[in-house]
Amino acid sequence: MCGIIGYIGKREAAPLLLEGLKRLEYRGYDSAGMALVHQGKLTAFRSEGKLSKLENKIGAKTPQGTIGIGHTRWATHGKPSEKNAHPHISKRVAIVHNGIIENYLELKKLLPHKGRELKSETDSEIVCHLMDAYVAKEENFLLALDQVLKCLEGTYALVIMDLKDPKHLYVAKKASPIVIGFGKHECFVASDIPAFLAHTNQITFLENDEIAVLSEESVDFYSKELKKIEKPIKEIAWTADMAEKGGYKHFMLKEIMEQPTAIRDTLLGRINKNKNQIHFPEIEKIFKGRFPNFNRFYMVACGTSWHAALAGRYYMEAIAKIPVSVDTASEFRYREPFIDKKTLLLVISQSGETADTLACVAMAREHGAKVISICNVIDSSIPRLSHATLYTNAGPEIGVASTKAFTTQLAVLLMLALSFGARKKSIDQRYLKKAIDGLSKLPRVMENLLKEKEKILKIAQKFVNSRDFYFIARGIHFPIALEGALKLKEISYVHAEGYAAGEMKHGPIALLEHNTPVVALAPKDRVCEKMISNIQEVKARGASVFIVASEGDKRFEKQNDEVFYVPDSLWYLTPLLISLPLQLLAYFVADLRGAEVDQPRNLAKSVTVE
Ligand code: G6P
Repeated sequence: MCGIIGYIGKREAAPLLLEGLKRLEYRGYDSAGMALVHQGKLTAFRSEGKLSKLENKIGAKTPQGTIGIGHTRWATHGKPSEKNAHPHISKRVAIVHNGIIENYLELKKLLPHKGRELKSETDSEIVCHLMDAYVAKEENFLLALDQVLKCLEGTYALVIMDLKDPKHLYVAKKASPIVIGFGKHECFVASDIPAFLAHTNQITFLENDEIAVLSEESVDFYSKELKKIEKPIKEIAWTADMAEKGGYKHFMLKEIMEQPTAIRDTLLGRINKNKNQIHFPEIEKIFKGRFPNFNRFYMVACGTSWHAALAGRYYMEAIAKIPVSVDTASEFRYREPFIDKKTLLLVISQSGETADTLACVAMAREHGAKVISICNVIDSSIPRLSHATLYTNAGPEIGVASTKAFTTQLAVLLMLALSFGARKKSIDQRYLKKAIDGLSKLPRVMENLLKEKEKILKIAQKFVNSRDFYFIARGIHFPIALEGALKLKEISYVHAEGYAAGEMKHGPIALLEHNTPVVALAPKDRVCEKMISNIQEVKARGASVFIVASEGDKRFEKQNDEVFYVPDSLWYLTPLLISLPLQLLAYFVADLRGAEVDQPRNLAKSVTVE
């Protein structure tokens, strides 16, 4: 939700800010802006709509200045418009903000009105007027910032420029993510690492209530009490081209095609064929070789990650024989769940920043529970608050629709269930060996499957103008059907619903009309026969079915339906394979409909507000 970037150094800031904003656009894209200081003069540009509009506005005359801030917005307070776009400016102060200032209406009353009329409808603008008012009294910018932060309720990542002092950038954080990048004679600050990854991979995340003051050569960190603190600099293994489209039309397609590599990287160092072992050193300090007696085990996540958790439950129950309850983070946090010292909470989050998921982690820790997270973004907020984190190693995921993060989450969940199962002896060495063999071959199987993407394009062409889609499945493929429907609706704006196939006749079947597409997931498993009956039921009501089945299953031949075959695999690997044609279907339908695949309307990749 909103992307912010700041630069201070020796180079011209404007191109670096624009480049950073481009990489952050997945966080919000309803308006954008930037401000720079050059020879004591402020230049600012703001524009409604995507970044390209801002670029057009700036035109060929790139503003000068070696210090600047930029913002790409996902509106919460105040509609998308130029006047609501950031940076906000008040006399001496320019700010960009990500988060929500909950008490902004009360703070408005504190402002001396003359000369400080609010120009926007946002909650953010108040911060810059307050800053300007305090700095007029206080003179010391850092002390003024401290005073202002004490007034704020809500969440924020703030980057602030003092127009009288172009040698420093001020950064403050509460709940919303912000990371600092250390270059040679320059520093960056941004909502996410890809914004400056082309220039440095030396990073430090700011913690809640900390302040950072950036200059060309160094960064000073301060605690809540304004005491200077030391923070370690980490080197991240991501490279700049990981955050590029690499010749693909969209990030989403690139990320779909990257899945074999992403899975390979996620398995790396965790499965050991020789020792017939699955090893997660990260959790040893919690488990110490056993599966301790937790009284309760919850898995919690949002969006696509929640679908991974739903699939993970099948792994935990069937392989590890561990009961687990799964919930969306936005419900769990307000449900008064039973949490104590004997509770294990497993949260799943690509970004590691989703506000509701983060709140569940904080809540669980307050009650003494152990928290393990499965995350993709290294050192993001959720890993920092968890007792242990299993990283998915998918590399940066930029497309708003999550793809490679999802399948790598499934892979980690499967390995975790296998490792729990081995500890609890609910599976034997033969079972484990078969699973390790299957997992090792999975990237190659996925590679081959992705070579058939043109087949999915043809199916997408057939259904491109359909108004409604239904995705049906049973067992572990039910969450995969939910995910298939979510992918389609979020990027193509076509109405799509996922249903447990057995539930169709309890209502949704009434909605079927002549040629309504029904995507039926029917791999060869113990519920395949039941799926075949459900397919007959929807066909009898006029549905046009697209079946995803197992290679060699002759039952779907000569039926005049669209069928896509995935290799016949172990039941727990099939969900990863079936995900691929569903992601491709969503991608091609959206692209054929001319939708903005990587930046669907109203959505943002990282939901850092409730
Ligand atoms: C947003 C994204 C989804 C994602 C969800 C949870 O809605 O658009 O793709 O699944 O947030 O995000 P997380 O980073 O916690 O997995």
